Amino acid sequence: MNALATAVYDRAADSSTTGPSSADTTRGDHLPRPAVLDLIGNTPLVPVRRLDTGPCELFLKLESQNPGGSIKDRIGLSMIEAAERDGLLGPGGTVVEATAGNTGLGLALVARAKGYRVVLVVPDKMSSEKVLQLRALGAEVHMTRSDVGKGHPDYYQDRAARLVMDIPGAWYADQFNNPANPLAHETTTGPEIWQQTGHRVDALVCGVGSGGTLTGLSRFFAKVRPGLDLVLADPVGSVLKDYVETGTYGDAGSWAVEGIGEDFIPPIADLSGVRHAYAVSDTESFATARELYRAEGILAGSSSGTLLAAALRYCRAQTTPRRVVTFVCDTGTRYLSKVYNDHWMFDQGLLKRAHQGDLRDLISRRAEDGAVVSVSPEDTLATAFSRMRQADVSQLPVLRQGQLVGLLDESDLLAQMHMDARHFQDPVESAMSHDVHTLPPGAPLSALIEQLRGGLVAVIADDQRFYGLVTRFDLLNHLRKGLS
Ligand SMILES: Cc1ncc(COP(=O)(O)O)c(C=O)c1O
Repeated sequence: MNALATAVYDRAADSSTTGPSSADTTRGDHLPRPAVLDLIGNTPLVPVRRLDTGPCELFLKLESQNPGGSIKDRIGLSMIEAAERDGLLGPGGTVVEATAGNTGLGLALVARAKGYRVVLVVPDKMSSEKVLQLRALGAEVHMTRSDVGKGHPDYYQDRAARLVMDIPGAWYADQFNNPANPLAHETTTGPEIWQQTGHRVDALVCGVGSGGTLTGLSRFFAKVRPGLDLVLADPVGSVLKDYVETGTYGDAGSWAVEGIGEDFIPPIADLSGVRHAYAVSDTESFATARELYRAEGILAGSSSGTLLAAALRYCRAQTTPRRVVTFVCDTGTRYLSKVYNDHWMFDQGLLKRAHQGDLRDLISRRAEDGAVVSVSPEDTLATAFSRMRQADVSQLPVLRQGQLVGLLDESDLLAQMHMDARHFQDPVESAMSHDVHTLPPGAPLSALIEQLRGGLVAVIADDQRFYGLVTRFDLLNHLRKGLS
């Protein structure tokens, strides 16, 4: 049996010895408690073997193995069961939360399993994968604006607070103020680490979103291992590191890592036990997450890159061997289109490419990287159409041995198909535009802008070769980067 299979087997064994939760008597309907809830927690702890950890042993607690894919399943369960015990949530009840991420997924998993209605208010920057997953669970998702701050009626937390007043029997989970959030980590995450390390752990490296994880762990380890080093991993731009080091903080910047870092000190966060704090840039966080996958085969989200980067710095700075634990907070499958997508990484400036100093720098899918989606003149129009759909593009360069021979777009396809769909079997050559206007790499930006005011793409090519297409989106992205 492999390590993961063992972990699942162990968790099932744990649940059969502890028996059903007392909350079974107060859940939202009369169906049996789904077994998936017994898979929350008891996550594996694995050693890092192939990264340089200096004189230390570094272990990763794989919170990504929770059934909802993140550490937030734990607080989904503990906050809902505390509300049931306190009589705040009962049959026919509704769980409401304002969330931009994993907390919504954790709450929705638990609440739907228990038969509650779930209403989540999410800012419109939330990734579409997460929204689709929430809806698949049966949660009602209210989208609201990302560009407004606290106090604005459309701010996601203000909107959620209003919904709680309007829905009879609604309960607001409110992870930033809910004591059941740190309690979940004090009573489950901490004891698990203590037991899994055989009571031999010298340092923990944590991030802070709501502060629940760090606060709960700090409380647990203050009791069992008072000398433990608590280390904060904070994104550059967040105010938490400054607060830990100086007791004050200024204006926050911005960062792309999701789930950790704050522009304020969360009410439930107790940072007084933190001994060291590291600020980690987006570039280092994303690169470290990618490195973790390549080196250890563990697919993690962006914040796990921040935590691991800080943990590695801490480990390498030690002069005596120490046993250090950090977290894989969520699964990387939710970030395939970001952290693990080179195009997105280039667009964000998180991966650097050779700078050419001409229009080639604006091409996001470059021919020289083999990244251009194209067709040959002999391919069928059906093939061209399915490539367009797959890559979500409206036009394709037509290439023969790397040379541009034409361009095919949706209107070319439509012109063939509207009379007779059998033309899908015709070759691309029969429908493509042969006479393609191209710009050489050295053309001025003004020529590119002019071209894109009239057409959807500009083709960058010279007599020697085809370099790629520049879309309006690529141009806008280039102009925006110029501002930052
Ligand atoms: C994605 C993600 N969510 C949440 C957390 C922890 O957040 P909280 O402080 O709310 O417990 C982390 C911590 O590293 C995280 O990486």
